Amino acid sequence: MTVPKAHLKLPYLLHGGDYNPDQWQAYPQIIDQDFTMMPQAGVNTVTVGVFSWAALEPEEGHYDFGWLDQVFDRVEAMNGRVILATPSGARPHWLADRYPEVLRTDEYGRQALFGGRHNHCFTAPSYREQTQQINRKLAERYGQRPSLLLWHISNEFGGECHCDLCQAAFRQWVQKKYQTLAAVNEAWWTPFWGHTLTAWDQIHSPSPIGDTNLKGLNLDWRRFVTDQTIDFYENEIQPLRELTPEIPITTNFMTDTPAMMPFHGLDYQKFATHLDVISWDSYPAWGNDQESTADLGLKVAMINDYYRSLKQQDFLIMESSPSLVNWHPFNRPKRPGVNRLAGLQNIASGSDSMLYFQWRQSRGASEMFHGAVVDHHGSTATRTFQEVSQLGADLKQLAPVRQLPHVPARVALVFDYDNMCALADSEAYADTTKQYWQTLQQHYAYFWRHDIPIDVISPQADLAPYQLVLDPMHFLMDQAWIDKVADFTQAGGTVVGTYLSGVVDERTLAYLGDQPQRLHELYGVQTTEVDTLYPHQHNGVHYGDQTYPAQDYCEVITNQTASVLATYTADFYAGQPAITKNQYGAGTAYYLAARTDAACLTALYHQLATELDLHPTYPLAKASSDISIQVRGDQNQRYLFVMNFGETANTINLTQPLTEVLSNRTYPAGAQELAPYQVLVFHELIK
Ligand code: GAL
Repeated sequence: MTVPKAHLKLPYLLHGGDYNPDQWQAYPQIIDQDFTMMPQAGVNTVTVGVFSWAALEPEEGHYDFGWLDQVFDRVEAMNGRVILATPSGARPHWLADRYPEVLRTDEYGRQALFGGRHNHCFTAPSYREQTQQINRKLAERYGQRPSLLLWHISNEFGGECHCDLCQAAFRQWVQKKYQTLAAVNEAWWTPFWGHTLTAWDQIHSPSPIGDTNLKGLNLDWRRFVTDQTIDFYENEIQPLRELTPEIPITTNFMTDTPAMMPFHGLDYQKFATHLDVISWDSYPAWGNDQESTADLGLKVAMINDYYRSLKQQDFLIMESSPSLVNWHPFNRPKRPGVNRLAGLQNIASGSDSMLYFQWRQSRGASEMFHGAVVDHHGSTATRTFQEVSQLGADLKQLAPVRQLPHVPARVALVFDYDNMCALADSEAYADTTKQYWQTLQQHYAYFWRHDIPIDVISPQADLAPYQLVLDPMHFLMDQAWIDKVADFTQAGGTVVGTYLSGVVDERTLAYLGDQPQRLHELYGVQTTEVDTLYPHQHNGVHYGDQTYPAQDYCEVITNQTASVLATYTADFYAGQPAITKNQYGAGTAYYLAARTDAACLTALYHQLATELDLHPTYPLAKASSDISIQVRGDQNQRYLFVMNFGETANTINLTQPLTEVLSNRTYPAGAQELAPYQVLVFHELIK
């Protein structure tokens, strides 16, 4: 693990984004215009060089830094900052021609032609050497520039390569992990279909024309891909650490849309320990026809909380669209006010930036119709430019917020990458309804809607700061986690677990017999059967004095030491326990045997929040949960972000007069109406 060496020193909240003047070298007047327009939009930061290798090194060993020197000069003239990318996300043609092994091989064994991006081999020594060389040149030339704020390594790492070099690296990885072939055969359960390995070189990455059924192989491959990507990244940053130890390092993480879940291809919780600063690219489908803005806002909030929790520190929005994208199934511009709402939501969640992809719309190629601050008309009069400028002015007013953390959470929601992969890969239950991240969102919803801070943590996280740990659908659980969560509960914590938990170990092998014993003791129940329902089938859960629908998964459990809070209403397990509560040491463990609806979760979490005295960080009455109130602050002051995600006006009730920062006016006590998508930011000094 790399110990973070540098901290981000922010002169302001960052506003700006990807800037690609290398595409416009034949249009000097456009570049002149850019630097006239940037201050008008409140832009103070540009990310440059993301795909600029061909412009920086047009031939091997021949460099052209003139255009980039000018960018630095001009950004410095406007007192701005540069986030400098290393260009490995796309390679020049000459590099692929001379070193063909850098081209990626797919799972069918087909090597790619030159083209696209994000498609290099992570193992090829030649790519690693070339990358180090160009990165060293960049660090030598720009490392001392006063505007250099942050290194942006490559772009959205992802994907995998199955070439011979990668196969060899994978075999070494497996050998190091398991030591003996017998251990591999056990872990991957290879005697199934007689796939027993008798030599190390028989090990091969999963492939549709080879093995895809060995669950342990599949999960180990995913783990290897993360480790190999991190190894590639570590190679990239070596000259930067050497020459610019004080400049922090990030790489931009991404999400799978529309679920707004962490990218499935890499274990970011592991990767995060190698970064100084977390940054991510946020592309929610605002204005879609599937969900309200408030429901999408909830999803964005949760992934922001996840990225903040990765290092328990402020993060950056590295990319977002100021209007529309060009790669959603439907590409709709943000409604008026939504860019401001989205930008301020990010700041409220702990981001210190709102950066866009990209400053100026490309003239051709695949992203020519992707939204940008400046579109093809090149005017400042567009709605997008005006709204971006408005947010730029807001962020200037909010500059002190960058020194204030998001308020600490006492509730943690567990997300486990290995579990996500293993559950998705398990040939069990139902194809379409496992929905791990979406289930986490359902549990998260109560806390977001009630303005109770919540972290999204990995099983490696320290549980000490928390009172309540939510641990849904933890199908793959290792003994270390079981002990950790049991110790936490024994010492007085409260845990909520659910159906489909503790089924397999870290090798993806099923637990046998009464194992894992401590988990059964923790919850005081044991699962005997899982009823997987078809989408239109329902059971019911009788809880309190109401019956709630249960769908998708209903476990039949036997109760050992717990008290039964709810029972099933139908089918052969009618009357049997559906929700239980177990005293475990000084703490309490709740078990939800069935997937219930939001109303049932609300009832349960309402009871828990009351018992545990979990309350909103700021007690402000609101007429609708479409309004969210998020707080950044410390013991001396706080900023309250009051955000109306509603498509209609909604009111809040101020108990005392408060100063609103963006309008610089004092709001009196009493009811205040917020227009659709309106945001008010109140500042309060704490006496
Ligand atoms: C990101 C990528 C950018 C740009 C953007 C468009 O995933 O990092 O380079 O392609 O998407 O939305």
